[in-house]
Amino acid sequence: MKKTILITGGAGFIGSHVVRRFVNNYPEYQIINFDLLTYAGNLENLKDIEKSPNYTFVRGDIADSDQVNHLFETYPIDGVIHLAAESHVDRSITDPASFIRTNIFGTFNLVHAAKEHWKGNMEGKKFYHISTDEVYGSLGETGLFTETTSYDPQSPYSASKASSDHLVRAYHNTFHLPVLLSNCSNNYGPNQFPEKLIPLCIRNIQGMKPIPVYGKGENIRDWLYVEDHASAIDVIYHKGVIGETYNIGGINEWTNIDLIKALCAVMDEKLGRAKGTSQGLITFVKDRAGHDLRYAIDSSKIERELGWKPSLQFEEGLSKTVDWYLKNSEWLENVSSGAYEQYYNKQYHQR
Ligand code: NAD
Ligand code: DAU
Repeated sequence: MKKTILITGGAGFIGSHVVRRFVNNYPEYQIINFDLLTYAGNLENLKDIEKSPNYTFVRGDIADSDQVNHLFETYPIDGVIHLAAESHVDRSITDPASFIRTNIFGTFNLVHAAKEHWKGNMEGKKFYHISTDEVYGSLGETGLFTETTSYDPQSPYSASKASSDHLVRAYHNTFHLPVLLSNCSNNYGPNQFPEKLIPLCIRNIQGMKPIPVYGKGENIRDWLYVEDHASAIDVIYHKGVIGETYNIGGINEWTNIDLIKALCAVMDEKLGRAKGTSQGLITFVKDRAGHDLRYAIDSSKIERELGWKPSLQFEEGLSKTVDWYLKNSEWLENVSSGAYEQYYNKQYHQR
């Protein structure tokens, strides 16, 4: 019997890499991609696999319990990999309600439907919730987030993700729902919506537009290539211990300003510009409200227990990422038109 796996948010940035990996590597699975196709979801991300016999796309809203229940009634779902979310911190500052709706109510609808539909037969079932390192809050200059670091979310986005993590763990503790969780650091790579730092900078550098750096650019993030996150998700889904949480990171910390300068250098070279040209676009703008200073991950648990570690060095990942965006400028322009321009003007021209 084929196993049926529901992947939520599969048309988004990370979700599309996860869907592609599962569709291509596991012909014995039937993959259902359930996605609302918000501004962040784009079926163009999955053009190469959309006709695969083991792939089905269903458009729908995780925050609508009737739609979620209907999904569980229609398909014999054995496993869930839950990525659908509102994911951009800046948007959570201007429109927190949509984060509460999707990230909290949406996750609740999914765990509740899984519990109800799997009742009496949880054998072989798995509910895997994808979360973020931002739930742990902000680090000072030293230290790393481990799986036992206390939650201390600082933005409406991270608070909504923390809340969803608690619900997933509560359904394991109370109803024995077989859950897995992971908390990952900043992803980068192809198909990321250009509201996020790296694709936004690539687009602006290409167009010789100002590169908006929040505050002094001293905030630190740990960066992981998106396909490495997808491979970690694969390993955790198949080998993770039920009830456990795994931190995923790139062991790759950068201040924003150093990262942007590195990106400028790569772009100057690839675009045949004189060295230093793109750096001249750097523009310091008003800081993000409540801006977390530093995230850094201790991913020794997944490395030790499941044998996963990142495959790419950052220099290689950044170079591949820039190549992809330069080659796919049509993708970038398609997703950046209309509503994106309105968002960009509101977000940046008031700073
Ligand atoms: P994204 O914003 O690129 O994609 C989100 C997807 O979810 C989109 O396809 C969107 O259409 C869909 N979606 C949104 N609301 C929905 C709803 N109500 N019902 C159904 N689908 C809906 O996000 P991403 O960056 O790919 O992140 C995916 C997941 O990984 C999120 O849960 C995020 O919190 C987590 N995460 C992201 C990062 C990162 O660096 N991007 C790091 C760690 C964890
Ligand atoms: O850590 C994991 C998280 O990483 C994920 O859970 C989120 O979904 C994802 O969006 C990301 O959150 P960040 O807030 O760290 O990512 P973002 O790309 O928005 O910003 C990265 C850093 O760059 C952050 O310190 C803010 C800064 N920044 C961002 C933008 C968009 C700028 O300086 N200028 C900008 O224009």
